[in-house]
Amino acid sequence: MTRILFVCLGNICRSPLAEGLFIDKLKIAGLEHKYKVDSAGTSAFHEGSLADPRTRENAERNGIKLLSRSRPFRKQDFVDFDLILTMDQSNFRNVKVWEPGFVEEIAEVKMMRDFDIQSRGADVPDPYYGGEKGFQNVFDILDRSTDELLKFLEGSSSNQSE
Ligand code: 4NP
Repeated sequence: MTRILFVCLGNICRSPLAEGLFIDKLKIAGLEHKYKVDSAGTSAFHEGSLADPRTRENAERNGIKLLSRSRPFRKQDFVDFDLILTMDQSNFRNVKVWEPGFVEEIAEVKMMRDFDIQSRGADVPDPYYGGEKGFQNVFDILDRSTDELLKFLEGSSSNQSE
């Protein structure tokens, strides 16, 4: 079982979409049973909320239904997940602040766009204060990045026990 956590600021725009896209790709590939997938926000501003209506509408137009509810990132996530993928540098730093020292089985923290072949390591731009174009741009970035992420994980996990 590989455990993946997507993290942004509010957990209502970028990370729930990354979660939904990745779960969709797992279903299509018949690999859902091999993964635990979740998302979280470095803030608790929107705790308990569904994804932003603009994110949900854009995702639905692209064939993805988002059902997750916002929850704050917690220190225990370092133990409960193997890989934490942050949407931007600010999320990355905020997650790293919580990283426990000298504990075994600690999640690796990476940037989501380390898996974007078009712009490695860049930020996934925050669409919250922008228009519809921003939401489609985020969708395209996360669609590419989650494709590459799955290829990477399936390529590197073929020798591990499930
Ligand atoms: P997210 O977008 O981090 O992709 O979920 C945001 C959502 C809400 C806020 C900022 C970013 N906010 O300031 O409330």
